[in-house]
Amino acid sequence: MKELIVRGCIIMSGSNKTLFVIFGGTGDLTYKKLVPAFYDLYVLNQVEPKDLEVVIIGRRDYTNETYRETYEETLFKHVRFKNRDEAHIQGFRELISYYKMDFHEPDHYFGLRDYLLERGNRALFYLAVAPHSFEEITESLKTSGITAAMTDKQLLIEKPFGDDLESAIEVDKAIKKCFKESEIYRIDHYLAKEMMLNILTIRFGNMTFERLWDKDSIESIQVSALEEGGVNDRGNYYDITGALEDMFQSHLLQMLSYVLMDRPKSMQPKHLHRAQERALRRLKPPKLENFNSEFVLGQYVSNGEVNSYVDETHVKADSKTETFFAMKLTSSDKRFKDVPIYVRSGKRMKEQSTYIAITFKPVIGINGKEHDRNVLIIRIGPDEGIYFKVNIKRPGNFDETQTVSMDFCQSCIYENRLNTPQAYERLISHALKKDRTLFASWPIVTKSWELTEQLQSLVKESNNQIIPYTAFENGPKESKSLIKTNGHEWVNDEVLGQTFNGQ
Ligand code: BG6
Repeated sequence: MKELIVRGCIIMSGSNKTLFVIFGGTGDLTYKKLVPAFYDLYVLNQVEPKDLEVVIIGRRDYTNETYRETYEETLFKHVRFKNRDEAHIQGFRELISYYKMDFHEPDHYFGLRDYLLERGNRALFYLAVAPHSFEEITESLKTSGITAAMTDKQLLIEKPFGDDLESAIEVDKAIKKCFKESEIYRIDHYLAKEMMLNILTIRFGNMTFERLWDKDSIESIQVSALEEGGVNDRGNYYDITGALEDMFQSHLLQMLSYVLMDRPKSMQPKHLHRAQERALRRLKPPKLENFNSEFVLGQYVSNGEVNSYVDETHVKADSKTETFFAMKLTSSDKRFKDVPIYVRSGKRMKEQSTYIAITFKPVIGINGKEHDRNVLIIRIGPDEGIYFKVNIKRPGNFDETQTVSMDFCQSCIYENRLNTPQAYERLISHALKKDRTLFASWPIVTKSWELTEQLQSLVKESNNQIIPYTAFENGPKESKSLIKTNGHEWVNDEVLGQTFNGQ
């Protein structure tokens, strides 16, 4: 037993576990991502009930046993290690406990304080709740004496950080009353995806790409995140957020920062984050005079099989929220002078695919003819892999060429799928090790909001209109003209290559 003094009270600390405390413990994220991630870490022996307890906070009337029954219903849909092993399932139960309280009630935190202190004095607080609750939770953690009682504490928060730059700054100020910057871990799960990390290896680990990563060799850059799904039951959140704030402000800008950054001095968080921040600072939206031809917003309408966006649950019937965007950006970095950077994302697209495509400039071959462009595609998901298009001689004829592709589907290989941590597994294990590399720094978040807001004001100034597009047709035709004007085109399904359908 250890004795701790909190605000004049003596509190006994019984054991010395690390406590991973999840607010929003009965929400989708916890069931689909967090609990499965802990299960996989448990199977890998990276977390053990003797050292760690995952404390699930919720208002519902569960006991440890009944809560376990609820997550066990769906656990194996979401875990990486799908072999049902009774010993693992049993052992894992010891890791998870359920604590009933209402996080809106400051008084309930006193009970939580005693509960936590009986178990340990290192806590990671994970807020899987709407951002407008961040302030009240962190404040109650402070006033109840929980944060002071913990000798070691961390705060993990989910995107979005605020609804705009101003509210993000307010949320940040509020949480910094209780947590230091070094204790705050801002999650963008894209940063922990296998192929996001691979961008760095592919770029900086190959002489060919490292040397050719500039305006002299690159003709255009494309970053796309296309989703087949609609907004499902998230209408409440999505209708006030929209695609720009949901995807561009976070995931797309994180991807762009990895594509455009200079080589960081090292993979230490301070070096990596600084390189990302610089890349984002140099990113420029279209000019007002070109805005309507270089920026497209869309909203899906029914194809006869699925709902139109405005008919989705909790979406306003006259909603003007965008479910698609496409744009042409540029960088003020000399290295990418005049290289168009095409970015798009949308719901109810024809295919599910997130990728980065680098198209290199064409060359005149030995036969005096202009050859097809080399294209490098990094497939981030759902299929992970790398594709490279090259020119070779056509067999037989001396001066004819053909284009062939080298296509490596990393996730098509069973061992690779088994050996690839899921994003949340990686994030949790990094947070437990206090490694902030894969978390967003505060300057990255503010810069991302600034860029998003610049685009939003340009939309207003240019009177840019939301264009309807039929579900499963890859966005409005204007998004195709946007790229065609420069003689380019979006990577098509065929080039996206092999698909692994998750079986
Ligand atoms: C989330 C967005 O952050 O990312 C969702 O809120 C989106 O709207 C999701 O569907 C995409 O993530 P992934 O990992 O499925 O590409």
